[in-house]
Amino acid sequence: MPDTTNSWFNAGPVETFAGKALTEISLGKTKLAISHSDGVFGAISNICNHAGGPLGQGRLDGEYVVCPWHNWKFHRLHGKGEPGFEDDAVPSHEVKVENGRLFVRATPATARSKKPHAPHPLARPVKREPGAIRVVGISTTAQDPANPRYSTSEALLEVALKHVREHLKCETQLIKLSELKFRACEGYYSKSAHACTWPCSITQMDEADQLTPVYEAIVHWADVVLMATPIRWGQASSLYFKMAERLNCVQNQITIKDRVLIQNKVASFIITGGQDNIQGVAGQLLSFFTELGFHVPQFPFIAHSRGWTAEDMEKNIAAVQHSAELREGACALAERAVNLAGMLIESDQPCDKTQRGGRKAHRLEVETNPTTP
Ligand code: FES
Repeated sequence: MPDTTNSWFNAGPVETFAGKALTEISLGKTKLAISHSDGVFGAISNICNHAGGPLGQGRLDGEYVVCPWHNWKFHRLHGKGEPGFEDDAVPSHEVKVENGRLFVRATPATARSKKPHAPHPLARPVKREPGAIRVVGISTTAQDPANPRYSTSEALLEVALKHVREHLKCETQLIKLSELKFRACEGYYSKSAHACTWPCSITQMDEADQLTPVYEAIVHWADVVLMATPIRWGQASSLYFKMAERLNCVQNQITIKDRVLIQNKVASFIITGGQDNIQGVAGQLLSFFTELGFHVPQFPFIAHSRGWTAEDMEKNIAAVQHSAELREGACALAERAVNLAGMLIESDQPCDKTQRGGRKAHRLEVETNPTTP
């Protein structure tokens, strides 16, 4: 029990804290990170200034406590941010050792102060700018951009984009994931749902990460996303999954904040491969994109495959290159998506609270129903 005499809390026997670099404790409603290094104890708030990460679960880097969520640092004795960020401070508390016990002052010796951090450009409100319907094509084919090869899915994507640009007067943009250097999702969500932020934690921390144009296009710019993927071992391409994992931050806003970033947007898919499992790939793409909040038109994908035994890839490429049917299919796919986007923009019906509540309720039902596999 806390001893409130003279506002000192009796935190417990010294041995409890001396054996580890950091320990989390609660003194009433106050959560603290107790540190121990070279025989000296420190106490600072357990709540990180950035997104509330539990500092006591972090690690020590010299005299700084490193937040376990996104690595912000605070001095373990006086709570100030690392050099250059001293104004970004968490509260610090006096400590003393008496009769083999550690005591912590209830009232902080220094206050919390937050240095304003300029918001990331992606963090701006999502608002459709007026203008023609905008279509982004994302090619997920993995290849060496310096020595490109023919990609059947990418070629059909380019056909689709050219069609809507020339015949429907859409604005278009083509993004090739193979040309972007971006990190794999590092599982911030697995630390805590609140550690997975929008914009993505990696995007905010690492200026060299190049996934920003994809976020910009998907969340802010485009009305239609045309996603093209080859089939690799019966699945979408590895680059598709690498991107999809990084889009967890978009879906997670619905989970933790009831905030649907994707409004009135349409997704459609182009899937090609020498071998099969088109429906499996389409199912994955459809479930993921609709989970983000995208709409899909009737017949939301086109696909081509020559089956499991087809190993003669040159013939596969030639088949796509010379197929008027596939090119027409790509154009029709894009048209359906653009038409649906036009209707959605015209009706401008954002996902309302009832819909969001309904979706959340569905999630709860799944989580609490013991018979659900
Ligand atoms: S660095 Fe602490 S919550 Fe992000």
